[in-house]
Amino acid sequence: MKIAVVTGASRGIGSEFTVRLLDDGWLVYAGYRSDKHRLDLINNKNLICRRLDVTDNNSIKEFADSIPGNVDLLINNAGVPDGRWRNVKEIDDKWMLEVLDVNSVGPVRMVKELYDKMSHDSLTTVAMISSLMGSIDDCHSGRSYAYRASKTALNMLSVAMKKEAFDDNISLLILHPGWVKTRMGGEHAPIELEESVEGMLKLIYANSLEDSGRFVQYDGVDLPW
Ligand SMILES: NC(=O)c1ccc[n+]([C@@H]2O[C@H](COP(=O)([O-])OP(=O)(O)OC[C@H]3O[C@@H](n4cnc5c(N)ncnc54)[C@H](OP(=O)(O)O)[C@@H]3O)[C@@H](O)[C@H]2O)c1
Repeated sequence: MKIAVVTGASRGIGSEFTVRLLDDGWLVYAGYRSDKHRLDLINNKNLICRRLDVTDNNSIKEFADSIPGNVDLLINNAGVPDGRWRNVKEIDDKWMLEVLDVNSVGPVRMVKELYDKMSHDSLTTVAMISSLMGSIDDCHSGRSYAYRASKTALNMLSVAMKKEAFDDNISLLILHPGWVKTRMGGEHAPIELEESVEGMLKLIYANSLEDSGRFVQYDGVDLPW
């Protein structure tokens, strides 16, 4: 049975990935930081829920050590928004560093800790849940300083890891979920969770080593850097 890891699986996009992967027959290790939220409502013997804070190396190691075999899919989904600061003078530098810690460094910590379990004969996909907000070309309205920078950094870290990972049969796919109705996306977001995750899963299942480093939106449209 193929093994998938999902971070930030308690709610929103991470919880929908978890439900869909279980439906598709995966054994899912679902990481939750504080509360299980939606994970508590899922009744499936192939779901293993473990505490996981992607800013804490001990938490990540404990999580990774509890997985007995190879990992075939890592969905680095955990993320936080920034303070919606209206101008430069409002930027809270401590919170900015926390946003970078969770959104940019967290996924790298996960890749580091799981690397040996992901490098095996068959292809492993690492899905980096990024955002169009991280696109420098698309940054027309500015602001959202920390969040934008955190996703730009995540994109670069992913592309920078691609060469090394290629040699170890690991492909990194950088995904934009669209603007989705979740706690982060808000109720006015135009895209439903199911549509976004269905689209991203299609891309994950079609992924190959040659696609590694692609920055693509949930409906298959390639995005500018
Ligand atoms: N929604 C959108 O429109 C949209 C658009 C573009 C990109 N994205 C990206 O999609 C991903 C998921 O977003 P979402 O909309 O589903 O957000 P969400 O509903 O706010 O869920 C975020 C998840 O991340 C977890 N998390 C936060 N900090 C964590 C940490 N340090 N360690 C582990 N887990 C942590 C949260 O856990 P707790 O329950 O403990 O807080 C929660 O499960 C994020 O990376 C986000 O940037 C979302």
